[in-house]
Amino acid sequence: MNSKRGQWASNLGFILAAAGSAVGLGNIWKFPGKIAAYGGGAFLLLYVLIVALIGLPVMLAELSIGRATQKNVVGAFHSLNRRWTFCGALGVITLFVILSYYCIVGGWVMKYVFVYLTGAHFPATAAPFQDFFVQFISAPVQPLLWGALFLGACIFVVVRGVSSGIEKFSKFLMPCLFLLLISIMLRAVTLPNAWEGVKYLFEIRPEAINGDTLVAALGQAFFSLSVGMGIMVTYGSYVPKKENLLRSAVMICFLDTLVAILAGLAIVPVVFATMGAEGLGMGGGFAFMALPEVFAMMPGGVLFGLAFFLLLFLAALTSAISILESCTAFLNEELHWSRLKSTLLLAVPMSLFSIGYSLSQNADRGLNLPWLDWKHGLQWLPMNAVMEKFTDNLMIPLGALLFCVFVGWIWGTSKAAKEIRGEAQKPFKLEKFWSFIVRYVAPVVILIILYFTLIQGQG
Ligand code: PHE
Repeated sequence: MNSKRGQWASNLGFILAAAGSAVGLGNIWKFPGKIAAYGGGAFLLLYVLIVALIGLPVMLAELSIGRATQKNVVGAFHSLNRRWTFCGALGVITLFVILSYYCIVGGWVMKYVFVYLTGAHFPATAAPFQDFFVQFISAPVQPLLWGALFLGACIFVVVRGVSSGIEKFSKFLMPCLFLLLISIMLRAVTLPNAWEGVKYLFEIRPEAINGDTLVAALGQAFFSLSVGMGIMVTYGSYVPKKENLLRSAVMICFLDTLVAILAGLAIVPVVFATMGAEGLGMGGGFAFMALPEVFAMMPGGVLFGLAFFLLLFLAALTSAISILESCTAFLNEELHWSRLKSTLLLAVPMSLFSIGYSLSQNADRGLNLPWLDWKHGLQWLPMNAVMEKFTDNLMIPLGALLFCVFVGWIWGTSKAAKEIRGEAQKPFKLEKFWSFIVRYVAPVVILIILYFTLIQGQG
C-alpha cells in the first residue's frame, strides 16, 4: 500500500540525512554561546550525559513510531491511536513556526556568505560589526529577500523527494560540512593563546553545575537533536523494515554531539585568542557580531570567515530541509497534494510568520504578542521573542513529553522495542533500561524543564 512512498536508498544515507537535520544552527551558533554562558566543561559534561541518557531514548521512541507506521507524523499517530492524532498535529504546528524563523536566520547566514564571497568586507573596528548586523537584520525588505532565497533552496531539494533529493544532497553536504569544520577547528586551536579557550571548554568547575545549567543543557539537547516535533517520526518512516534503529540513532546522536564539540573547539579558542575571556560575553551575537570582528583581526581572516559562514549555511540548510520535509509529507500523504504544491502552499502562510519575525527585529516596527509565564505574569513581547519561546520553551518539551507518554504508556514499549530491533529477533542491549527511561525518567525530567521555563519564567 505504501509502494509510492519514498525510502532511504541506504542506511548511511538515512544516518547522514538525520544527522543533517540534527546538526544545525543549534550546534554551531547556539552551542558555543551556551557553553560560554554556563561555565565551560561543566555544561559540556551535563550536555553529553543528557544526550546519552534522555535524548537518545526519546529519539529511538520517535523513530520507532515512524518506522512502524511508515507514515507522516499526523498519519502515524492516527493509525496507532486515533485519539492521539492531535500529538502529530502539534508537531506539525511546532515545525511550521520553527521553519518560519529558521528561514530568516538562514537568510542572514546567506547574506554573510555573500559578503565574504564578493569581498565586500566589513569595516575593521568593533562597533561597525555590530552596527552592520543590527542594521541589516532590522531593515524592512532585504532580510526577507534572503529568507525567501533560503526557503527556495529548501524547496528545490524537498520537491525532488526522499532519496533523490534529501538523501543525495545530505550525502554530499554533510561530508563538506565535516571537512570545513575540521579545517576551521585546526586553524583555531593553533592560534597563539588558543590553549586558554581549549582549557575553558574542558575544565570542569563544579560550582558551575546547578539547576540553571541543567535546564539549559536539556533544552539545548532536544533542540539540537531535532526531537520532540516529529522530524524523527518522518525520517524513521523512510527506513526500510530490516534495519536496526538503535545503531543508527546512536550514530546520529554521536555525530550531532561531535559537531557541537568541534564547533566549540573552532569558536571558543578563536575568541580567547583575540579578545580574551570577555569576548565570550557576547552570547547570541557570537556568530554574526563577535566572529566577523575576530576574523578581521586574523591573518587570512576573510577565508576563515567565508569558510565559517559556508559551514553555517550547510548546517542550517540540511536542518531546514528536514522541517520542510516533515510538513510536506503530511500534506502530501493526508491531502494528496503533490510535493511541489505542498511546499508552495506551505510557503504562503509561513511567509506571514517570517515577515512578522523579521520585522520584529526592529523594535519600532515589531508586532507585540502576549506571552504568559507564572512568575512574570502576562507580558507583551516582540513577535520574534514569542515565536522562539513558544517553540523552545513550550512546544518542543511538550512534544517530547507526549511522545514518551505515548510510546511508554499507550502504544507500549514492547511494541516499540520490537520495531527498533528490525530484523534481529533478540532484544537489543539495554532494552529494559531504555523502556524505563521512556516511561519514567524522561517524562519526569521534561516536566522539570517545563516547570522551570514556564512557571519559574527562566529562559
Ligand atoms: N536540530 C537543529 C539545530 O540544531 C534545529 C532543528 C530544530 C531542526 C527543529 C529541525 C527541527 O539547529
